[in-house]
Amino acid sequence: MELSIVIPTYNERDNVVAIASRIQASLPAGTGYEILFVDDSSDDTPEILKQLDKKDSHVRWFHRSNRRGLAQAVAEGIEASDSEYIIVMDADLQHPPEILPLIVERLRQYDVVIPSRFIPGGSDGGLNGWRKLVSWVARKLANLAIRRLRDISDATSGYFGLRRAVVDHIRLEPVGWKILLEILVKGKYRTVHELPYSFAVRDQGVSKMCLREQWNYLRHVARLLWTSPQDMRFILFCLIGAIGVVVNMKLLNFFINLGLWGDLQASCMASFLAMVHNFLLNNWLTWRDRSLAPGSLIKRFPPYLMVSCLGILVTGLTAKGFTLLGWDIYAGQFAGIVAAACWSFTLNNRWVWLLPAPSCEPAKLVVTQESVLEKVIDETVL
Ligand code: GDD
Ligand code: MN
Repeated sequence: MELSIVIPTYNERDNVVAIASRIQASLPAGTGYEILFVDDSSDDTPEILKQLDKKDSHVRWFHRSNRRGLAQAVAEGIEASDSEYIIVMDADLQHPPEILPLIVERLRQYDVVIPSRFIPGGSDGGLNGWRKLVSWVARKLANLAIRRLRDISDATSGYFGLRRAVVDHIRLEPVGWKILLEILVKGKYRTVHELPYSFAVRDQGVSKMCLREQWNYLRHVARLLWTSPQDMRFILFCLIGAIGVVVNMKLLNFFINLGLWGDLQASCMASFLAMVHNFLLNNWLTWRDRSLAPGSLIKRFPPYLMVSCLGILVTGLTAKGFTLLGWDIYAGQFAGIVAAACWSFTLNNRWVWLLPAPSCEPAKLVVTQESVLEKVIDETVL
């Protein structure tokens, strides 16, 4: 079979027959496809699906007795199918089946195809004002937090297509609703193509989106962030830097109380040991995916020390610059610390913890968007 259309259903008794017939009417005759309903309903949707299954040879369905969420239902549906192409859509006709042939056509060329509400020609008319705002915040948050998603306009869409190879051999463990986010972060793909569509108004039944799912969304993004080393790096680096300041102070206090050294010696010793502490934590956490060979620890320390000392110089020069301009020295010191953190992070990332090519060579992700004139909008270095 060429195509599996996975449709999650929760109490969609008034929609399942209509969507099956609209799908049939949209796909060219002879298309090898199945519709796989993954049902968690508590109403009589299963009865209606049973009858539909008898009448329509394209329909398959299974019921899960413990409702475990929309994204999990989709993940199970993907696992239960074996077609080359998979398209996921909602049952409630808010996702127009009429563009299915175009999605299939594009899947021959691209790994992931996303009908988007947010590119020219698309619209999110099916959402009310409040949901539009929540949806905007959610999308921006994911775009900011996860680099891979930066150029994708509708990464929270419930309508998308993919080649099976994208999710083969990966474990999908979504929390909540947004299965596409999970696939975009964990999947194996090089090309994403977006095409515009209008998100229709729901005619029958009600939306199952609720506050709990918005909380789940935040948990999901946090979890995806944690599993993605390149997205976590800067956050971890700053956190370790902040902990390093506390360690530095504590050590200074310890050495002063010890009474063996003068103030300058005690201060330098505390700073040096804090740097060692930061180095080890960064090697263990921030660049954990790059700290492979045991001997590399020794080799990396001198350049790390150099970068850190230059960082102190950057801070000092910024603070001095502020005072020369007649501005507050504390503001200068703070600006200096921010500048030094960015500077040290970049050098550590590109030099100290750089792996020899080709293992460190960045893969290119190409995102394209379809409009009247198809154009490549960006090439993102992962
Ligand atoms: N199996 C299963 N289990 N299906 C569920 C569950 C569940 O727990 N919860 C919801 N569904 C099904 C619904 O029956 C429907 O077919 C689909 O998932 C979407 O649910 P809606 O309640 O209609 O969501 P929405 O319209 O507010 O939002 C949808 O569209 C947006 C735009 O594409 C969702 O797909 C969003 O994730 C998406 O951003
Ligand atoms: Mn809906």
